[in-house]
Amino acid sequence: MKKLTLLFMLCLLGVIQGKAQKKIFNETEEQKEQRLAWWLNDRFGMFIHWGLYSMPARHEWIKNYERMSDADYQKYFDLYNPDLYNPREWARQAKAAGMKYAVITTKHHEGFCLFDSKYTDYKATNTPIKKDLIKEFVEAFRAEGLKVGFYYSLIDWHHPDFTIDRVHPQRVSDPSKYAELNKGRDMNKYREYLKNQLKELLTNYGKIDILWTDFSYPGEYGKGKDDWNSLELIKMIRKLQPGILINDRLDLGEYDDGGDFVTPEQYKVAEWPTRNGKKVHWETCQTFSGSWGYHRDENTWKDNKQLLVLLIETVSKGGNLLLNVGPTSRGLFDYRATQRLHDMGEWMQVNSRSIYGCTQAPEDIKTPDNSLLTYNPTTKRLYVHLLDYPLQRFELPGLKGKVKYAQFLHDGSEIKMKDGDKGSLALELPVIKPNVEIPVIELVLQ
Ligand code: GLC
Repeated sequence: MKKLTLLFMLCLLGVIQGKAQKKIFNETEEQKEQRLAWWLNDRFGMFIHWGLYSMPARHEWIKNYERMSDADYQKYFDLYNPDLYNPREWARQAKAAGMKYAVITTKHHEGFCLFDSKYTDYKATNTPIKKDLIKEFVEAFRAEGLKVGFYYSLIDWHHPDFTIDRVHPQRVSDPSKYAELNKGRDMNKYREYLKNQLKELLTNYGKIDILWTDFSYPGEYGKGKDDWNSLELIKMIRKLQPGILINDRLDLGEYDDGGDFVTPEQYKVAEWPTRNGKKVHWETCQTFSGSWGYHRDENTWKDNKQLLVLLIETVSKGGNLLLNVGPTSRGLFDYRATQRLHDMGEWMQVNSRSIYGCTQAPEDIKTPDNSLLTYNPTTKRLYVHLLDYPLQRFELPGLKGKVKYAQFLHDGSEIKMKDGDKGSLALELPVIKPNVEIPVIELVLQ
């Protein structure tokens, strides 16, 4: 009896806590779904990490890793001249790969602004290239019909008022030294700078579809929502761009609507991520190799099949994939990236129907061995991605009598169906694997 009472109390507490989840805006669930509809449909975007760090070409955290001072780093600024920059070409490559949106670093942790900001001299217009690179980017990607997003680093290793903390290039091992080191640095001024720059980005470039802030690391000698003034920022952001999508890195996790989607980075999620037991929207960001910024000597590049599996598996768990390119300091995509984008595009050209508008398959449908399922709830079509091409007779458990028609997606050729064992549906596949990296079977459900 006592146990039951305790259980009841705990449940009640849970309910109360659930209800107590705070909200910043009064948008309804339906309104939110509406706002996110295009993004949930499109599933696949390009991340672009570009900045001064493309010159050392040893990772975008190079200033931190090598503990460089502003003076050490100045040479990159003085010589920055991406003379071959042609964002229209980038947009064409993204589009041909099947990507529907792109998010570019307007400023990364190094503090360098690719856009023309009134609030700093540390910007592209003051380098030899003398251009607002973001303006050209926005125009080019819009012209190719892609949606446009801005990555903006909350962190700034160049701003004189940004206090030195545990991830700063000038960090120290003895924490008692921070007070002395930070004398004269004023985070109030930095907060103002942040706000002003976000205002510029969301005012001067027309409609912006996504804002991707990066990142918070609360705790000792770290920074979080109060350091950025996140609550005030998110209100301003949504006011300036009511339709915008915002990621979850402003450290506003205590609010139900402190971000529109979660952002698992560089790892494979085991299942559809949840919060308080509820499935949440998510986008995984991933690199082709081990660096976001252009890295000349980094060789751990994923191959085409791994990348396709990454995309398919993400959608099979209800998520989006933001796949990164780090352009060179001349302004071109690295040949390795171009090759991979091209190969993914070849697959997408004939198989994208299993990606766009798709999500996790209904839970009562079992995934056959060595395959991944996606499902389009509008057209009621189920997609079986064959990661390891099976022998002729391929059985789909539990689907007997539930499928109207079966075909390969890449060429729309019929696959004959038969009743299989124990309620399964048996498909008669050709012996030879079709000439696509990962063949997809499209099942039209009853
Ligand atoms: C991390 C890194 C950064 C990269 C980002 C992408 O937060 O700081 O270099 O931009 O991940 O998600």
